[in-house]
Amino acid sequence: MNALLLLGGHSDIGGELAARLCSGRPVVLAARRADSLADVAARLRAAGATAVHTLAFEAADLASHRELVERAQELAGGVSTAVLAFGILGDQARAEKDEAHAAEIATIDYTSQVSMLTVLADTMPHGEIVAFSSIAGWRARRANYVYGSTKAGLDAFCQGLADRLHGTPLRLITARPGFVIGSMTQGMKPAPMSVTPAQVADAVAAEIRTGKGSATLWIPRRLRLLAWVMKLVPRPVWRRMPR
Ligand SMILES: NC(=O)c1ccc[n+]([C@@H]2O[C@H](COP(=O)([O-])OP(=O)(O)OC[C@H]3O[C@@H](n4cnc5c(N)ncnc54)[C@H](OP(=O)(O)O)[C@@H]3O)[C@@H](O)[C@H]2O)c1
Repeated sequence: MNALLLLGGHSDIGGELAARLCSGRPVVLAARRADSLADVAARLRAAGATAVHTLAFEAADLASHRELVERAQELAGGVSTAVLAFGILGDQARAEKDEAHAAEIATIDYTSQVSMLTVLADTMPHGEIVAFSSIAGWRARRANYVYGSTKAGLDAFCQGLADRLHGTPLRLITARPGFVIGSMTQGMKPAPMSVTPAQVADAVAAEIRTGKGSATLWIPRRLRLLAWVMKLVPRPVWRRMPR
């Protein structure tokens, strides 16, 4: 009853976090390219995972979510840590003209997360669920408001879910990273206070090991101060902020 389920098996942040949490336990990697997870699986075995299972996972297929979690629980004998590391940044310029792309970003980064979080909270008796919000959702920016709006919605959902889980043996860790240098932001100029996937994973793993109850984590921690200032910036200035 102590398996780790990583949803988004190829995720940079998810892989780093799984490597820190997998020692002595089975892992289930769920990904949409499930046949190319050999490198991730080998890394986790080297980090001490007792077994690594793989499952095909398409986040937009909402009807498959409950069955996927049940299958993961069967394969690994029960899940006690679930990490929702799937997501897309999307193309803001394209999403402004192509409603299908705007809806795709909203589906993967909000609707699918809500669906999966609901299944996990309903089926996990104890342990922890990790969800990834973002500074992008703190105050929507003209330059990335489609992605930002999904993170705002997801963050609000997570705050409510954390309150629902308060006092139960299941907790929700909501991570709010700033700019993370990795696949998702490839080719983009790192923003101030950028972090690496390893730094995000260190912060979440530390909270899982030492924290009690649900928590919301700014990563890096000093981002919280910047977030407070962000809310004070007048709209005519805010409108010109880069992504
Ligand atoms: N990177 C950042 O700057 C940053 C900052 C704040 C928050 N976050 C959040 O942190 C989480 C992890 O991000 P990351 O940096 O690890 O990104 P990443 O390396 O790009 O990983 C995201 C993963 O999501 C998977 N995915 C995308 N669409 C999917 C779908 N329809 N079904 C199943 N899987 C799908 C991708 O699969 P494929 O490999 O098949 O494409 C990819 O492996 C995301 O929620 C992200 O929004 C990231």
